[in-house]
Amino acid sequence: MDKNSPIGVFDSGVGGSSIWQEINKLMPNENTIYLADSKNAPYGNKSSDEITALSIKNVEELLELGCKIIVVACNTATTNAISTLREKYEIPIIGIEPAIKPAALQTTSKSIGILATKGTLSSALFSRTTREFTKDISVVEIIGEGLVPLIEAGNLDGPEMISLLKKHTKPMIDANVDYVVLGCSHYPYIIPQLKKILPENVKIIDSGEAVARQTKTVLQSLNLLREENTKPKLQFFTNAETNTLKFLLKEYSEKISVEKIDF
Ligand code: SIN
Repeated sequence: MDKNSPIGVFDSGVGGSSIWQEINKLMPNENTIYLADSKNAPYGNKSSDEITALSIKNVEELLELGCKIIVVACNTATTNAISTLREKYEIPIIGIEPAIKPAALQTTSKSIGILATKGTLSSALFSRTTREFTKDISVVEIIGEGLVPLIEAGNLDGPEMISLLKKHTKPMIDANVDYVVLGCSHYPYIIPQLKKILPENVKIIDSGEAVARQTKTVLQSLNLLREENTKPKLQFFTNAETNTLKFLLKEYSEKISVEKIDF
């Protein structure tokens, strides 16, 4: 493993590619490998043990592919499995947590909404973070039931998506939230749709940029940032069909490769 080794990123499916985009924006010179475990998506309704076993499988694959750092670009996998992963492996592992703290610090209505999977909202890590940062404010937690399968299918704009988003945001609007925290890496792909439904004053925040910054900080501290200026290798592997990844990443089509493999 050296500076030229890739940054490994995994998610339950295509959604973590929103995090990959932030990583690539901040560190365009880095080689990267993205693993989409779409065959097993969604993780959000699985037990903590199942999520941990799938996360271990993904990390093993990324280690075999020679990665120098691993980014868990999946909130459900982070909240359920990151401590096990960090105990089990020596490689640095970056996780993604909902941006509750910035929302709690900036809300003026003293009411924030969190949209995430059941697996994230019911995790101990999530409860701890929420308790720590939201003592004086009200928090509307909504399970984004049904959203991940639609995003996995590349269905971002259909009537089914719009009606689910209206249903999920109604309790937040009723509670006068002024921040909506996206607690699932799939959801940044539906920000335009959410913006059309939420009142204009409501701000949407996700954690992509923060994860990319943290990844860079850790690589820098380990002296593992790539220095060569040759074109980086940007590989995407999925264990399901490649269409949705290609669709979501169409603006990168000239630079990336997307392949189906077994893992
Ligand atoms: C899921 O697979 O259910 C969603 C992944 C996430 O929480 O980011």
